[in-house]
Amino acid sequence: MRALVLAGGSGTRLRPFSYSMPKQLIPIANTPVLVHVLRSIRELGVSEAGVVVGNRGPEIEAVLGDGSRFDLRITYIPQDAPLGLAHTVSIARDFLGDDDFVMYLGDNMLPDGVADIAGEFTMHRPDAQVVVHQVADPRSFGVAELGPDGEVLRLVEKPAEPRSDLALLGVYFFTPAIHRAVAAIKPSARGELEITDAVQWLLTSGADVRASRYDGYWKDTGRAEDVLECNSHFLGGLRGRVDGDVDPGSILLGQVVVEAGARVLRSRIEGPTIIGAGTVVEDSQVGPYTSIGRDCLVSGSRLERSIVLNQATVTGVHSLRDSLIGRGASVGTTGSGAGHCLVVGDHTRVEVAA
Ligand code: TTP
Repeated sequence: MRALVLAGGSGTRLRPFSYSMPKQLIPIANTPVLVHVLRSIRELGVSEAGVVVGNRGPEIEAVLGDGSRFDLRITYIPQDAPLGLAHTVSIARDFLGDDDFVMYLGDNMLPDGVADIAGEFTMHRPDAQVVVHQVADPRSFGVAELGPDGEVLRLVEKPAEPRSDLALLGVYFFTPAIHRAVAAIKPSARGELEITDAVQWLLTSGADVRASRYDGYWKDTGRAEDVLECNSHFLGGLRGRVDGDVDPGSILLGQVVVEAGARVLRSRIEGPTIIGAGTVVEDSQVGPYTSIGRDCLVSGSRLERSIVLNQATVTGVHSLRDSLIGRGASVGTTGSGAGHCLVVGDHTRVEVAA
């Protein structure tokens, strides 16, 4: 079985981050989402992965390389424009050949793994196998209606009145039967070739499409609040380790990672929290559920349940929470009490205390 990993797209929901970086490289517990995805794919016993990339391909390639770090061979498949999930299958036709494959959205986190589901697919080998997850409000998802034996009866994209609470997750298992479906469908109203339409085409033409339930933790990291929630979930499993320097005036509580070259001075760090390599934290309170990237400065500040990306600076800010701070960004104080002073980029969101 091969893997097709989708790391193109527009990432509009994750602006402003997606203006300057591919959203699939946003760190969860200081590791890019896409790296978590590739590790999960390797657990399926797959060794050949095609990674679909858009205009931010070079940055993704710089992080993943040839895949040998993950014990995978990676082929990069450029997509000129984000024309839909099914479009990625058509441009990957040469890479996929006549092999079965798992299609994995590069922004989806399923840390409890889908190896059991892959095993079911390999054993029964239906034409396609989708992965579903029970959600409270299915109206913003592709929704699967199932028969008594787990066979899929119908797929409906974002139904106003869902007839089931089983949402499609970003992992699909396909035999080469999908290629005929992808070639047959037309773009949807939003101008994309939808994978749900391709799977529905298979169903209509009498193919065997099955669904497996994934009951573990799942998050689509498409929005900032999802990234923060997912980060907290991952940090929940953190094991503390101190490779950097912590001065005697500092306290570490719970599971705290201080990476090599990081320095913690006169501060209180509450786990689970990661302080990235080369970062300085001084006169601050950090955590819980916080990850700080490489080469940052946190000074005279207090922050919790937040993510700070590489080379950012936070100084003199006393109550930062649920915040996502971009690479090289600077958050500080004006030094006077006279109002806030902001330089805010396009599509940024700022919420100050009332
Ligand atoms: P989405 O999150 O559905 O789409 P998007 O990246 O355009 O995001 P937004 O809605 O915020 O604008 O895509 C799911 C995954 O598939 C994601 O990793 C991007 C990838 N993708 C492609 O590689 N090619 C495509 O044509 C599309 C639509 C998505």
